Amino acid sequence: MTLSLLSGSAHPQLGQVIGEILGVTPTVCEVERFPDGELQVKVGPLQDRDVYIVQPTGPPVNDHMVELLLSIDACRRENAGRITAVIPYLGYARQDRRTASGQSVAAQVFARAITTSGADRVVVVDPHTPTVETLFNVPVEVLTAVPVLATALEEHIGEDAVIVAPDLGAVKLAEHYGSVLGRTVVIVRKTRYSGTEVNVEEVVGDVAGRHVIIVDDMISTGATIRAAAGAVLERGALPDMVVAATHGLLVPANNADPVFPKIRRVLITDSVAARPTPDTDVPLEVVSIAPLLADGIDRLHQGRPLDDLAMRR
Ligand code: R5P
Repeated sequence: MTLSLLSGSAHPQLGQVIGEILGVTPTVCEVERFPDGELQVKVGPLQDRDVYIVQPTGPPVNDHMVELLLSIDACRRENAGRITAVIPYLGYARQDRRTASGQSVAAQVFARAITTSGADRVVVVDPHTPTVETLFNVPVEVLTAVPVLATALEEHIGEDAVIVAPDLGAVKLAEHYGSVLGRTVVIVRKTRYSGTEVNVEEVVGDVAGRHVIIVDDMISTGATIRAAAGAVLERGALPDMVVAATHGLLVPANNADPVFPKIRRVLITDSVAARPTPDTDVPLEVVSIAPLLADGIDRLHQGRPLDDLAMRR
């Protein structure tokens, strides 16, 4: 089967760079928006092609998710031979279980929708939890940006630096950074009260007089990073902290606080398209995951394993 690379409207630049690495020209799906808000997606002829659709479902999450579903369906109706949804940032992955009665499990709803639309395989990068894999009934390749971010971190961190997991959900990720960078891991225990409010209950490990690197899968409003930074500062951490997160959604918070106080540098990837940052004082460094995704696509196309690109379980 011949490889076809399709790019959704969420992040055509990423599709372009992946295409350059693979030596193929990506086709940008035609997306029309009707006056009532409905989307219509059109793709070209794809008969018997091995199709990879690159579409992160970052903000606006619902539009990008619906566009992804319609793109997969359009490819299926064009008789694509195999369809792989490459979703560098998987929106709704945080809603993988109910935290209170009466809630839906949105991660499962969208996983089902992606597979029933016609995806034969899914590729994601550092999803909120690797267990998203169990929500899909097609194979899921869970890649990680930790090695590329860790390499970029090396020039910003001193010998004494410790890795901080800003919540229990980030512990596995922090351990991965810890083992790549040879640093110990400190854990912050937080409770989330709403989409923008979190509170720190405990810090497990010693940060006094140390430089810290806070790592997480994503930064949305920055509330988690802000709370963790405040907690480690209170316990004597040095103020010029570094943050690394795979997905920099950087959505505006609903308060007037600076988004990242006392933080020297924030490293994110290009898993979602760049957005204006709420706090322009923060030196933001964007590390590309296009080589990671291109390598993953190339290996899938050739039927080779992706183990060394995968997130630690
Ligand atoms: C949640 O557990 C995630 O791993 C992130 O810590 C969180 O979603 C980031 O969101 P925010 O920046 O709004 O705190």
